[in-house]
Amino acid sequence: MKKNILLLLLLIAFVSCKKETSEASGNSNPEIAQTVKPNDLGEKIFNGKGMCYSCHKTDQKVIGPSLKEIAKIYKEKGASITDFLTEKSKPIVDPSQYSVMKTNFAITKNLPEEELKALETYILSFSK
Ligand code: HEC
Repeated sequence: MKKNILLLLLLIAFVSCKKETSEASGNSNPEIAQTVKPNDLGEKIFNGKGMCYSCHKTDQKVIGPSLKEIAKIYKEKGASITDFLTEKSKPIVDPSQYSVMKTNFAITKNLPEEELKALETYILSFSK
């Protein structure tokens, strides 16, 4: 019986402790609390040094297919965007325009694995 009360006290202490820390992080500066998620990194590269945005828009074909279309087809086929971007797999979205996309491999082939994966996560996030 005594043991049970002790356990209960421990539990209460634990729960109130947890509440305190979550409250603390809620009050803290969001800029410090924020960590870079793969999706954010992908977006950063897509709109930054990858310069992908100049040919790909979210839901409209411009020079290249829209991100929604790419995401849909890659999800359907279970294909790897990372493989495509490192020239390990063939185009499956619009092979007739492949030569235009190919010029970007000079950039993507030199990206670290982590950034390629982030790009893939970012693009796939458009398939809902
Ligand atoms: C100069 C314009 C241009 C730029 C810049 C560009 N793309 Fe593309 N992209 C295309 C075209 C055109 C296609 C359609 C041809 C194809 O499917 O291979 C395409 C297709 C793709 C596909 C589908 C490949 C498939 O299987 O058919 C992916 C994924 C892709 N681009 C990712 C990217 C990423 C990531 C970047 C930035 C690093 C990028 N693109 C930059 C023009 C571009």
